Amino acid sequence: MHKSYPHISGKLHLTGSSRFIADEIPLPEMLYAKFFFSPVAHARITKLDASDANAIPGVEKVVTALDIPGMNQIGLVIQDEPLFPEKEIMYIGQPLAMVLAQDEKIAEAAVKLIHLEYEELPPILEIEEADKKGEWYIPERKIESGDVQKALAEAEFTLQGITETPTQEHFYLETQRCRAIPGEDGQIFLHTATQSTMEVQEVVSRLLNLPANHIIVEVPRLGGAFGGKERGATIWASMAALGCFLTHKPVQVLLEREEDMRSTGKRHPFQGRWKVGFNAHGKIEALDIELLSNGGAYADLSIAILERAMFHAENAYFIPNVRIRGRACRTNLPPNTAFRGFGAPQAIYIIESILEQMAKKLQLDPLELRELNAYRTGDITPYSQIIIESNFPAIFEKLAINSNYRQLKEEVEHYNIRHNESKQGLGIVPVKFGISFTTTHMNQASALLWIYIDGTVSLTTSAVEMGQEVSTKCAIVVSEILGIPLDNIRIESSNSQRVGNSSPTAASTGTDLNGNASRIAAEKIKSRLSPIAQQMLNNQGIDCTLEKICFKDGTVFASDYPEKKIEFKDLIRQAYLSRIPLGVYGYYSTPDLSFDREMGKGSPFHYFVFGAALAQVQINLLTGEHQVLKVFIVHETGNSLNKDIDLGQIEGAFIQSVGWCTCEELPRDTTGHYLAIAPSTYKIPTIRDLHCDMHIEMIPSGSKYASIFGSKAIGEPPFIYGLTVWFAIQNVVHSVKPDAILRFPATPEAILLALN
Ligand code: MTE
Ligand code: HPA
Ligand code: MOS
Repeated sequence: MHKSYPHISGKLHLTGSSRFIADEIPLPEMLYAKFFFSPVAHARITKLDASDANAIPGVEKVVTALDIPGMNQIGLVIQDEPLFPEKEIMYIGQPLAMVLAQDEKIAEAAVKLIHLEYEELPPILEIEEADKKGEWYIPERKIESGDVQKALAEAEFTLQGITETPTQEHFYLETQRCRAIPGEDGQIFLHTATQSTMEVQEVVSRLLNLPANHIIVEVPRLGGAFGGKERGATIWASMAALGCFLTHKPVQVLLEREEDMRSTGKRHPFQGRWKVGFNAHGKIEALDIELLSNGGAYADLSIAILERAMFHAENAYFIPNVRIRGRACRTNLPPNTAFRGFGAPQAIYIIESILEQMAKKLQLDPLELRELNAYRTGDITPYSQIIIESNFPAIFEKLAINSNYRQLKEEVEHYNIRHNESKQGLGIVPVKFGISFTTTHMNQASALLWIYIDGTVSLTTSAVEMGQEVSTKCAIVVSEILGIPLDNIRIESSNSQRVGNSSPTAASTGTDLNGNASRIAAEKIKSRLSPIAQQMLNNQGIDCTLEKICFKDGTVFASDYPEKKIEFKDLIRQAYLSRIPLGVYGYYSTPDLSFDREMGKGSPFHYFVFGAALAQVQINLLTGEHQVLKVFIVHETGNSLNKDIDLGQIEGAFIQSVGWCTCEELPRDTTGHYLAIAPSTYKIPTIRDLHCDMHIEMIPSGSKYASIFGSKAIGEPPFIYGLTVWFAIQNVVHSVKPDAILRFPATPEAILLALN
């Protein structure tokens, strides 16, 4: 265990043979969907006329809200989102009608002939305006502990401010898509790019008024998702399903990059309004914070995202008196949605900004200030979950040693004295990330495992593969338990017929949940196979108890007689002949979770992931360009299931976050148009933005806090480390101009504006 295994898809990706939905061959009679998207952010529809479009040869049908047989409703947490709006347009890019035609060109031409008349309504685009007007999906939420008013009144020092974070486009390589294929007896097969087969099935079944067992959802793998396909895929799958239902023909929905960027929701912008109280040593005594998010036109996952933001408002710090209030605001933007970190990066940026201001005010070392306030074992979070095991302050000590912190600080100071046209700075950010869906019931997963007669294995789990290689990790689990080579295990596509009721693959829980379900399945079948092995060994004259039977390297043997081996495949054949079932189902649900939303109290997380990072940057003061020189990360992976995959996740999350912090600017005009909806204007980082000296140390965790085989979740927590680059840049800017205000993201333009 805990070796490095190459990831299963690697060879397939490199040779171009991994299969995505777009690799499927065209089907006979297949119809291609194109959409008529709303050109305005907010309006009342007075007329939607598709008669000219319908008249074009090759157009099969123009579909509108009137064609929906069931409920025109795709909302889940809150049922506020129609598939097609009937009266009120809510955002630019909202689909109002769908053309189904024999080819894409015809469909595109027909879309141009759809005629819309509307009365424009004033759009709400910003958090402040929505908040003032009380445009919230649900009333304010609150988490509180101690007496914040009193503690603030008595605090030696207080600071207050407003801190904001911008949006971010997911930029998954594979845009939103779905292919719907009619089956017999009214069944519909959906080949969908979704993180949640269950959600697609549930919503489509309601939309079409069909039983759930008529909707079969299949996901081969995703070309990246990053949260954008947890909820975001549902609308497009619904479109394909509806088209297929109405025409009885296969329907393909596939968004172009610009369509995807214009119409789909993104990371939630947040605004934090805060007041902090602390003493002369920098110990935080009180924090009063309001977190407001820009949720877009429909609730989507905004409430859960706000909740996770609230759970991370204090990040890694114990604060005795806290009040966290949260409001998710409805605006006329595409419904913002899950994005790696799920609200936590926004909240953590805000609290880290507060610590930076405290450090500045008290002239304290930013590392020491953080270490002083960090959670220790036994501390209690604002929502009353006990920190059973904290890896602070050890993590800070490691970070200081690895980065040679004192010397590095001096080097930076010396550099800055000697250089006028470029300056350097450091940024430090720790993380405490809660692992589990905060929606407790979602913390469950299943695995279906078959061993075929030749000893090879087929495994389907609730998980969706999106590049994070949950597949490899589940295969490792089975391989370890059954003692068979990874090559003999096939991880199948996600499919609602093989494994139903699957929670989305999200919240970084993919491996925790599905690895455990796979473990349970493998252990079950092992306990069926062991007596057969005992019998076979017995026939060779070896007497041994069941406990002594080992499964290793494709063989089975008694630990006292390792030289007498049975081949695994021979054991399987014998088991089959003995009529032992070789198919097995494993089910796992995370134990001991609870949270009372009304009270704002409970233990919503199975455990926390801890870590910290430091970045050193250099800025060219003439051009505003920055360069990341060094990055140090100390991150708790626990007993990593696969170090290479975890390393990839840490690096990937880091650079994705650096993109958010430094270059991915998505301006918007006053009518609600996003102005950078193509890679030519929306700049994501590339590998060339990260040719720095990157030092990553993965550390184990204690015994109380761990999941499958002692490993910890990895997908989202390292996203937080990208913030170090923003704070390092701010640090440079402040060293030149102490009161400068630096925009987020810190683009060269933003840096120059701050300096001048
Ligand atoms: N890594 C890749 N390559 N592609 C992705 O889409 N999504 C991230 C993260 N890492 C993602 C990724 C997000 S948002 C989450 S929640 C987790 O993977 C989900 O997978 P896991 O729970 O199996 O880690
Ligand atoms: N993370 C990701 N997705 C979710 C969550 C969460 O905490 N809760 C509900 N969906
Ligand atoms: Mo990840 S944002 O939980 O899909």
